[in-house]
Amino acid sequence: MADSLHSNPTSFQSGDWFGDIRAHFEMSSSFGHKGRVLTTIVRFMRCSRCLELGSAYGMSGLFILEALSARGAETQLITVEGSERLHRMASALLESRFPGRVSCEYGWTSHVLPRLAGNVTPVDFMFHDAGHSRKDYVSDFLAALPSLAAGAVVLFDDINWNDPRYASSNPQCRKGWLEVVAHERVLQAVEIGEEMGLLLLK
Ligand SMILES: C[S@@+](CC[C@H](N)C(=O)[O-])C[C@H]1O[C@@H](n2cnc3c(N)ncnc32)[C@H](O)[C@@H]1O
Repeated sequence: MADSLHSNPTSFQSGDWFGDIRAHFEMSSSFGHKGRVLTTIVRFMRCSRCLELGSAYGMSGLFILEALSARGAETQLITVEGSERLHRMASALLESRFPGRVSCEYGWTSHVLPRLAGNVTPVDFMFHDAGHSRKDYVSDFLAALPSLAAGAVVLFDDINWNDPRYASSNPQCRKGWLEVVAHERVLQAVEIGEEMGLLLLK
């Protein structure tokens, strides 16, 4: 799957960014190191229900589902993706590889998370890799809180992100991360390298 996307020259546009699928896939997907962090969290925390915000092509979802597989058949991943084209690609991939174990929600987090609240069994791991801005980090975290179990862990990707290819002004991800860290439900927060922030919730 990764090999076919790595060599796919079909044009692709995302916001102000123009290019092709191979470049977009390469820039936006999780590979080795991030994949290892995701699988380690799922295994170490013995997670059984996970939520991913921003699935893109489904790469990080694959890592999470592989790790969940080792935890048994009753495990579940819910993904949320706002791009219709990417949602279609990710859901085809994940649902064919892990039938009955993944629910791929199409829509923006601002619409999907309030709908999930109270309607899903709270999850024990959430991976945030959707909107990359202070506002997105904070609003997504607050909207997801009702769906996060006591003792859940939350991984934010790109907490120092400021890529001029996607935003003309500083999106202030670090500010958003620090605001989330200060929330009363956060028991412990650690940063993993330059990019990732991990929370343990009360
Ligand atoms: C960095 S990519 C995700 C990469 C993927 N998690 C991986 O590691 O393979 C971010 C994705 O989030 C989606 N996205 C951005 N803002 C969103 C939002 N508010 N709601 C849902 N999806 C969003 C984008 O369409 C994009 O596909």
